[in-house]
Parts: sequence; C-alpha cells; structure tokens
Amino acid sequence: MSTKSFSGEYSVVFKNLKKSFGTAAVLNDVSFGIHTGKITTILGFSGAGKTTLMKHILGLTKPTSGDVEVMGRSLGEMSELELREFRRNFGMVFQYAALFDFLTSFENVAFPLREFTKMNEEEIEQKVMGLLDSVGISKEAAYRLPSELSGGMRKRVGLARGLALDPHIMLYDEPTSGLDPITTHTVYELMRDTHRAKQKNGFTSIIISHDIHATLKYSDYICFMEKGQVVEHLDVESFKLSKNPVIRRFLEL
Ligand SMILES: Nc1ncnc2c1ncn2[C@@H]1O[C@H](COP(=O)(O)OP(=O)(O)OP(=O)(O)O)[C@@H](O)[C@H]1O
Ligand SMILES: [Mg+2]
Repeated sequence: MSTKSFSGEYSVVFKNLKKSFGTAAVLNDVSFGIHTGKITTILGFSGAGKTTLMKHILGLTKPTSGDVEVMGRSLGEMSELELREFRRNFGMVFQYAALFDFLTSFENVAFPLREFTKMNEEEIEQKVMGLLDSVGISKEAAYRLPSELSGGMRKRVGLARGLALDPHIMLYDEPTSGLDPITTHTVYELMRDTHRAKQKNGFTSIIISHDIHATLKYSDYICFMEKGQVVEHLDVESFKLSKNPVIRRFLEL
C-alpha cells in the first residue's frame, strides 16, 4: 500500500499537536507543514522536543491531542496494521542509529529488502551494491562488520539502509553526531545529493540537527523549536534575518 507519488504542497502537516509524558508537556500545540520536495531542518536545543516530533511523523508515538497528516492521510485514523504498511513510505536514520553489529554492511542494507520485499538474491545483490556505491562504500567495505568501519562510513551505510525501500520521505535524527567537521560536511553533501537525485518525484528530507552551520548551508526550510513549541518556520534566507533573540543566540554560535 505504498503511496506511489505525492504532489501536495506539504508532505507532513502537524495539526495542533500536543504531547505530554505524565505532567510534562513535551509538544505544546505544534502546527505547521513540511514542504514536499524540500530539505527541512528541525533545529533546537537539547530537550526541545525534536525527536518526539519525528516519532509522531512515523506514528511511533501517539499524540495526547491533535493529529499528524502525512502525504494527505491522517495518521490518527489509521489502524496499527495500516500504519505499519504506511511506514514503508519513510526512510529513517535514527539518533544513535545503530546498524546491526552482527551483520556486514551488505547484510544491514539487505535487511529491509529481505524483510519487506520478495526480491530474489540476485536482485538484492544488485540493489544493495548500487545503494552502497551511491553512498561511497566500496565493494570491499561491503563485507565488513560495523565495528570494522569508521563512524562516517557507518553513517553512510545507515543512509543506504534508509534508502533501500525507495522512500518518499527521509528522516534523519542527528545524522552527523559524533563526526568530525569535515566528515560532517561530506555526510551532509551526501544527504543533499541524494535529495537532489530524487527531488523531482517529491522526495522530502527532514533532518534534525544542532549544527547551525551545516543547517544554514544545506536546508531549504528551517523549523526552530524551543520547549515544545515552534518559534520560527521559515525559508533559510528569512531565517538568517530572524530577529527572535533565541535564534540570534543560536546564529551567533
Ligand atoms: N518516552 C518518554 N517518556 C518521558 N519523557 C520523554 C519521553 N520521550 C521524551 N521525553 C522527554 O521529552 C523532552 C523532549 O525530548 P526529545 O528527545 O524530543 O528532545 P530533543 O529535542 O530530541 O533533544 P536532543 O537534542 O537532546 O536529542 C525531554 O525532556 C525528554 O526527557
Ligand atoms: Mg533528539
């Protein structure tokens, strides 16, 4: 039931989304839309609610009130089974994204293909090698375990795995945490190149980041969150001119 294409203005729309854990309000009335075909970065200090917001896009966390629409469909109205199917539209690179330690790069990327498709070995081999090649992982590194790769290479394999099922929406939760500044930029370039290659089909990239410099360089739109609320949601040029004192502080880092 994977949606074949989506051409609406917003791939994801948050509608008065509220989430509390016990008495703590973590998302406090979030309403905005994420532009189809663009790179949007969700920026904000630690604890602002960024990862919680992303989990709502995937339907992994349920709202206390409000709703999330993805590609025109209300997640609140889907059954668990529909949601599980619907998640095939997403590629995910989670915060602290773990590859399976006991599987080679090849097998990590093959995993979703084996799990969710009926591809035969030959087709899997072709698809996996193509994906690994597209993220700059050599044939030789394809048969190494994650512990035998550098941090940057692991992120690349994670990206290849996220792309395996040809998603419409790619979600990255701090994809460059723990990387040096140069490797960080190469990973961002890879995300941007991936985005551009698929953009014409409405491919949407959503990145969570703390990294203000990379964000300004690689995003089309920026959503700045603080204490569970959206402070600004602007295109990158307007964002740079924001007079909001919290954002000015972030920009001066
Ligand atoms: N399952 C949960 N149960 C209770 N509290 C939670 C849960 N998930 C998140 N929180 C709380 O919600 C707040 C926001 O967490 P979240 O992980 O969304 O922040 P974040 O913006 O992603 O932060 P970081 O940049 O550090 O990853 C935090 O105070 C966190 O402790
Ligand atoms: Mg987080």
